[in-house]
Amino acid sequence: MTIKAKIAVLISGAGTNMAALVYASRIADCPYEVVLVASNDPQAEGLALAQAEGIATFALPHKGLTREAHDAAMEAAVLEAGAEYIVLAGYMRILSDGFVVRWAGRMLNIHPSLLPKYKGLDTHARAIAAGDSHGGTSVHVVTPELDAGEVLAQIAVPIVAGDTPDTLAERVKLAEHQLYPRAVADYVSRWRDPVALLERVRNLALAFPETDERESHGSPGFRVGGEKSGKYFAYFADQHHGTPHIACLVRTGGMDELLNLVEAQPEVYFKPAYYGASGWIGIILNRPGVDWDAVAEWLTRSWRGAAPKRLTRLLDVADEF
Ligand code: GAR
Repeated sequence: MTIKAKIAVLISGAGTNMAALVYASRIADCPYEVVLVASNDPQAEGLALAQAEGIATFALPHKGLTREAHDAAMEAAVLEAGAEYIVLAGYMRILSDGFVVRWAGRMLNIHPSLLPKYKGLDTHARAIAAGDSHGGTSVHVVTPELDAGEVLAQIAVPIVAGDTPDTLAERVKLAEHQLYPRAVADYVSRWRDPVALLERVRNLALAFPETDERESHGSPGFRVGGEKSGKYFAYFADQHHGTPHIACLVRTGGMDELLNLVEAQPEVYFKPAYYGASGWIGIILNRPGVDWDAVAEWLTRSWRGAAPKRLTRLLDVADEF
């Protein structure tokens, strides 16, 4: 049995998306479970359903509290419930930047438009007024900029003759109820999916100049410097030599640095078999909350170490300023 990801769902109203998430979680093999339903409105209809389903609930009106204080109380409830992800489902509050940043990569939202169209409010009225053929819904990662994080999944929903914002909203919700549980399930599974992890490493590695991908001892490897004299600067290792890790291997400055990092952060780094002996470190990717900016920085450093002078000269000059 695999361990289920724990999610907290934040609502402000009817909570039909929350209900869809809960019922999907009741189907065998769903990779998440709902451990908390929280609201800024104690009267939110969805709270009663969550209670009837035996799910912990928390409600705190935001009136009279600063945004930060209200967010802090919601966050405390989320942490208390042991949630690893926050899933916003019709939570009609703008969150403070600090809260969003602390949950970077672990907070999702569903928005009733085909993003990047119609961020903010009154999405259905705006789609109808613009004469659009379709409205729709998007699931996205939450970032400090409103409704602007990576879009994970969308469904377009036709606008039919005579539609009002309400009739369209109702139809869009039917699509949302299908989309959100699936998108959340996929997202919480992402961190252990070798195909998704390789894709991410590949996108980062091949973004550097003059790089190519070539298999080495059965692993995808990434090289810089052209067909003949290319040098490897990264490998992708999927549970090699009996380790449970899916990892990106990059070159460190040497054995001291490698061993220090492994000792200080064993949940992040390990010394890979064979490669470790020549200063390559493994960055563990199959864990929630990987800092992909840090992975990108490692790849940059490793690429610079392997790239021919003519490619790094400009960067070296820039470093001197
Ligand atoms: C949903 O349609 C959701 O997309 C929207 O509120 C509705 C909540 O319905 N969210 C937003 O507008 C966020 N800006 P529900 O309470 O029945 O799930």
